[in-house]
Amino acid sequence: MSSKKEKMIAKRMAYIDSSGIRKVFNLASKMKDPVNLSIGQPDFDTPDRIKESAIKAIREGKNKYTLTQGITELNRKILETYQKRYTMNPPQSVMITSGTSGGILLSFLCLVNPGDEVLIPDPYFVMYKHLTHLVGGRVVFYNTYPDFKIKEKHIRDKITDKTRIIIINSPNNPTGMVYSHQELEIINKVAQEHDLFIISDEIYDSYVYDDEYTSMLDITNNALVLKGYSKNFSIPGWRIGFALGPDWLISEMIKLQQFSFVCAPSFAQYAVLDNLDFDLKTIKNDYKEKRDAIYSLLKDDFEIQKPGGAFYIFPRTPSGQSGTEFVTKAIEHNLLIIPGNVFSESDTHFRISFAASIKDLKRGAEILIKIKD
Ligand SMILES: Cc1ncc(COP(=O)(O)O)c(C=O)c1O
Repeated sequence: MSSKKEKMIAKRMAYIDSSGIRKVFNLASKMKDPVNLSIGQPDFDTPDRIKESAIKAIREGKNKYTLTQGITELNRKILETYQKRYTMNPPQSVMITSGTSGGILLSFLCLVNPGDEVLIPDPYFVMYKHLTHLVGGRVVFYNTYPDFKIKEKHIRDKITDKTRIIIINSPNNPTGMVYSHQELEIINKVAQEHDLFIISDEIYDSYVYDDEYTSMLDITNNALVLKGYSKNFSIPGWRIGFALGPDWLISEMIKLQQFSFVCAPSFAQYAVLDNLDFDLKTIKNDYKEKRDAIYSLLKDDFEIQKPGGAFYIFPRTPSGQSGTEFVTKAIEHNLLIIPGNVFSESDTHFRISFAASIKDLKRGAEILIKIKD
């Protein structure tokens, strides 16, 4: 590191290490027209109806700051929807966040004291680890390998008197696993016994292919539930998410949003408000087809769990190769995927995003099968 950088950059940045993914993208930069199965966002374009609403909002001058917590009508409609859907555990409060990521950051800042331990599933969505470090917390992983389901013992074994938060993410990135009612009950039981607070990242809740989706709100409203529109409406660049939770927490998150993000993008809030009734059935069916396609293309050659949701599948690397070795080989064969150690403390798997054309999924699977030995 240059001495200026060393002197000036705050120590907390030392905990944020993006070298794993950077290495992959450095290798990938030399690829010509790769089969790209690495992308963590939808492959369909934003539906026209949603684009038109955003353009209309901009033209109508809805370009100012909104209320910090989001425009009143959007808040009201979202809260009403979830209060009606979860009558047993109606959420108390809502706020619109700058993407689901905005909700994750605000909640960590509001809940985690330096030295507090945050329980994170392994494999995990990378942001949880880095943001825990950023706020001075200690990351403690609970293992979900090999089937990526919740194991009560693995969680209990990791609880200490410093444990404060438990994170769950269903459907999961990178595994595509959807937790059952029973698994979420276990989380809630353990959390209650040890006075832990649950943060449930449900950003992929619209992409669940087999069973009825169970939200943490089916079990309890004493949790923070984070959802968003990046993946549902294919608007990841517009930065719209929302947080449902108890008043005591949402009010603190709103206070902090006022002095950080200020508000979520105005035009995007209006576009979402106009399209709350947008039917995702066709999009979901399309991803289900892709899920089925990639699973059947790979299931005889790789050890894989069939994902129940999101648009990721997380196979084990074949014949003892590390995720990094295997992905390097895949990149040499013009296929871009992500090694498991980007999402895990283990380097035994790799992530495929099936948010891609069936043609690319077939080409990708062919390459994977060719290079597996
Ligand atoms: C599990 C998970 N949570 C949160 C996010 C962040 O989404 P957003 O664009 O809403 O900030 C992502 C994005 O990939 C994700 O995979």
